[in-house]
Amino acid sequence: MKDSPFIYGTTVSEHSFTNRETETAKLRSNLLNGINTMIISPRRWGKSSLVEKVIAEINKKEKKTKTIIIDLFSVSSEEEFLETFAREIIKASSSRWQEWVSGGKDFFKKLIPKLSMGIDPGADFTLSFDWKELKKHNDEVLNLPEVISQKKGIKLIICLDEFQNLSSFPNYVDFEKKMRACWQRQKSVTYCLYGSKRHMMSDIFNNPSKPFYRFGDIMLLQKIETSKWVSFICGSFKNSGKQIDEKEAKMIPAIMKNHSWYVQQLAHYTWNLSSKKATIKEINAALDELIQANTPLYQKEVETISVTQLNLLKAVAMGEGQFTATATMQRYNLGTPRNVSKNKNILINKDLIHEINGIYEFLDPAFELWFKKQFFNQPYMITAI
Ligand SMILES: Nc1ncnc2c1ncn2[C@@H]1O[C@H](COP(=O)(O)OP(=O)(O)O)[C@@H](O)[C@H]1O
Ligand SMILES: [Mg+2]
Repeated sequence: MKDSPFIYGTTVSEHSFTNRETETAKLRSNLLNGINTMIISPRRWGKSSLVEKVIAEINKKEKKTKTIIIDLFSVSSEEEFLETFAREIIKASSSRWQEWVSGGKDFFKKLIPKLSMGIDPGADFTLSFDWKELKKHNDEVLNLPEVISQKKGIKLIICLDEFQNLSSFPNYVDFEKKMRACWQRQKSVTYCLYGSKRHMMSDIFNNPSKPFYRFGDIMLLQKIETSKWVSFICGSFKNSGKQIDEKEAKMIPAIMKNHSWYVQQLAHYTWNLSSKKATIKEINAALDELIQANTPLYQKEVETISVTQLNLLKAVAMGEGQFTATATMQRYNLGTPRNVSKNKNILINKDLIHEINGIYEFLDPAFELWFKKQFFNQPYMITAI
């Protein structure tokens, strides 16, 4: 049996990548023309995949441009960030690993890096600094990409994923100023900074009183359109020896509100359950499987919020607009207007809901289906669209 053509849980940049032609072209052109670019969207819509795709294309074609992608998701301090940053830049600067250790030291004036080879010398090496010194001379690391680019006659593109994580470090306010001051002077280095926490990202890049204001172009990544999903789903079924008609294929993004991860997940289960042709029966069974598979996560999510927050979520699920209207507050037991406004912010910060044109919505379409079944006994069976 062939492997499933649908992928979720990891980034997709070559196979299973659909559409995003406009975004791909814009990001490529920005990064090659020295325009710093920030990408913001809720998680699992496709930021990391988009950046990987563009970077892979650049790596194939542009020999004088070196690229780096660092995921800041698990980086937990300024020092760790600086060490990772320095190591990845040194690695990108040369394809000959012998140069990493021998050349690495020459790039610094005040700092003295400790460099050593990893177990697999061709792939890895470690770099560390005395953390006190590092803190004092952090600008040496922040300026490292420019120093290296100038020395080697190359251009660098540095992509930092989940950038907003930096803002939870102690002393971030000073560090933020330092980063901006160093990076904006760099002529041969372009930055792509992206992240899923919309409110945090907006606060860093859209706030006129913050250092990163107007650092570059901001892209608010949108969902992939239905028609693109439909041709992707139909085509992928066909190429793998199975079949789905357009009418049924349309149901998949419709149920999942075009959410990239979930469209792929539902398409995958549907594909898996269909021996030859997918019908509404398989889609329903797939949806059931998907919700079952995610139920432990959803249960956990609900357990971590307070009763009034849960009640507010119920009001959102029922499409209520005016949370502070007396009738709504009473019907859902929302507490005081102050509770409502506090809880609303908590649910937003937890990425459970977001606001679109004054209306609050669940961010996670499958969680919403589960939630409505759980608390309002609304079935998520689909009949026809
Ligand atoms: N262009 C795309 N085409 C098809 N599926 C995509 C695309 N971008 C993302 N996906 C799906 O969404 C999932 C999450 O994508 P990812 O790039 O990790 O999102 P983010 O970085 O925004 O959290 C992927 O695992 C994949 O299933
Ligand atoms: Mg990501």
